[in-house]
Amino acid sequence: MARRNSSRVVLGVGGGISAYKSVDLTRRLKERGCEVRVVMTQAATAFVGPLTFQAVSGHPVRTTLLDPAAEAGMGHIELARWADRLLIAPATADLMARLAAGIADDLLTTLALATEAPLSLAPAMNQAMWRHPATQRNLDILRSRGAQILGPAEGGQACGDVGPGRMLEPLEIADIIRPPTGAPLAGARVLLTAGPTREPLDPVRFLGNRSSGKMGFALAEALTDLGARVVLVSGPTALPAPRVAEQVCVETALEMHAAVLSRAADCDLFVATAAVADYRPAEPLGQKIKKDAGELTLRLVRNPDILAEVAARRPPPFTVGFAAETDRVEEYARDKLVRKGLDLIAANHVGGARGGFERDENALTLIWKDGSRELPMRGKTQLARELALLIVERYLERHATPT
Ligand code: CTP
Repeated sequence: MARRNSSRVVLGVGGGISAYKSVDLTRRLKERGCEVRVVMTQAATAFVGPLTFQAVSGHPVRTTLLDPAAEAGMGHIELARWADRLLIAPATADLMARLAAGIADDLLTTLALATEAPLSLAPAMNQAMWRHPATQRNLDILRSRGAQILGPAEGGQACGDVGPGRMLEPLEIADIIRPPTGAPLAGARVLLTAGPTREPLDPVRFLGNRSSGKMGFALAEALTDLGARVVLVSGPTALPAPRVAEQVCVETALEMHAAVLSRAADCDLFVATAAVADYRPAEPLGQKIKKDAGELTLRLVRNPDILAEVAARRPPPFTVGFAAETDRVEEYARDKLVRKGLDLIAANHVGGARGGFERDENALTLIWKDGSRELPMRGKTQLARELALLIVERYLERHATPT
């Protein structure tokens, strides 16, 4: 699959005086290699004409949800899928309230619900409206769902007030939103485990688990797309071979352990997404177990902890672990981060209606020593891309700060 080197941005323009700045923002985003499609709220059209955005973006501008002509072209669901990012600038207090409440009463708020792309908001409003507890509460809700909040800046406002609420300048926003240029992981060697392991009981039976390998394979491709040389050590999965430099197929935890440890000295990053069996049958039998007794007791012994062993190497590679938890997700994951000496841990909530094993969607809480970030529920491919970008961010930061 060819990698696009541009980023597709749906720019949602809200009804505020700063809408005029979004014309320049469109231009700045395009200069930075983004493809931009503009969607305006009705209120925004009172400030700037759609024709202006059409001329600058080079594409028709959409303003209404129920427009048969526009739907015959790129329908709103298609537009939601097309986007790599939904950027709303200016995000007014009213828009933020509707987004926080999940209301979909116009094209832009409908797109915000329909898209899996990450959401960025550049708020712009009067300083009293910005400070109002209702706005602050909506901001917290949107932030907790993973929205990126850009600004606002402080200073003189169009209404004469002075304070926070000014939209960031187009150049500042465009520099944050720009697609990663080049390959930030060029030259980096990644070793990544994925999938389940199978622990044989006898020649026909094994102890296994429900991991599909989807998240690990998607992450291996996302890291490859960022320029890394990825060696994937995978347990048995039903997935097609991913785009990586090398794939090593293993079956048991001991085989995975050997495959990883023999390559650990040659990696800069180690990412452990595999669901490795913690225990294996103590003595797998050479012949099929016969059901001649009323009860069968299996004796299991511990498998080596591959991730902890790699993290204990000196010097250690940058290590990323996964934690599947049913409760107290953040607390247990942080404990694992410290106990195993990791740089980053991606915790997912398993069980119940949330994502996890055998699903196409997932949500993650990313935790590192002095920070955390929520990646809300979305398709595993998109989620893997965002996780890969965070891995790059933390990895480059570790290299910038001597430990
Ligand atoms: N891991 C590993 N080798 C093992 C076990 C786990 O490399 N033998 C890695 C997994 O790939 C994952 C992380 O360690 O990145 C999960 O840690 P673990 O402590 O096994 O998590 P849980 O099984 O969820 O832990 P617990 O049973 O303690 O809740």
